[in-house]
Amino acid sequence: MNTTIHPFHIPLSRRRLLHSLLMTTGGIITGSVHAEALALTPRATEGPYYPDHLPLDQDNDLTLITGGKAPASGVVTEFGGRLLNADGKPIQNAVIELWQSDNNGCYIHSRGTQPGKERDPQFQGYGKIETNAKGEYRFRTIKPGLYTGRTIHYHIRVKQNEKSMLTTQLFIAGVPQNDRDGILRSMGTEQQRLSVIREFKPMSTEGKELVGTWDIVIGSTPEEPEQRGRGPGGPGGPPPRRRDNAAAGDQDFKELFFGSGPF
Ligand SMILES: [Fe+2]
Repeated sequence: MNTTIHPFHIPLSRRRLLHSLLMTTGGIITGSVHAEALALTPRATEGPYYPDHLPLDQDNDLTLITGGKAPASGVVTEFGGRLLNADGKPIQNAVIELWQSDNNGCYIHSRGTQPGKERDPQFQGYGKIETNAKGEYRFRTIKPGLYTGRTIHYHIRVKQNEKSMLTTQLFIAGVPQNDRDGILRSMGTEQQRLSVIREFKPMSTEGKELVGTWDIVIGSTPEEPEQRGRGPGGPGGPPPRRRDNAAAGDQDFKELFFGSGPF
């Protein structure tokens, strides 16, 4: 089955916007590659809410569902960049997945609704895109909703030939809860942590939409925890605890990062 993702499964009016984002990131990335050279993107737990039922619409615009009645609630955010290897070379034809909470802090997961909240039915919750010949990817989505026990975050997975290369999380700079987030604090070295906390800036003077850039840097082999820095599973760190998608349950997640604290 051909699973190639078309980057432009989105209305014409938006193509121009995303095209300009790509051009923008292209310019910025050149600098960031040098600034963050060889800092592998740190891995992080996938958490308990990787969708247990994937949505029919899986494109890279999570704000609109095919056939949906309205756009998703929340502040629109876009981010994109390049997928690079440790030498800074672009990696093409890799699939980047994004899953995250909606504006109410709820995931598209059978247990992903937060107490007292309802899931936004207009939010896609999950999307993916294949990197192009320059290693570029991008997403249009919303700022994730906050839920108890975490700062706001995007979940990201990089796959090549259906093999997971990296599972990580992306954060927005300036969010007060970042400093207290156990998962963020456990991610690799300080340089690696800084590489996953990105500035999101207004896309234009008139709108509220935000845009950020983020390069993802992975090693040359499929995800091998013992080679990925000093976090859990890295040299000097505790043994690898990552499990396969289906096996990563709530208990494992709580145990790893929150002890007996609130989730
Ligand atoms: Fe999460």
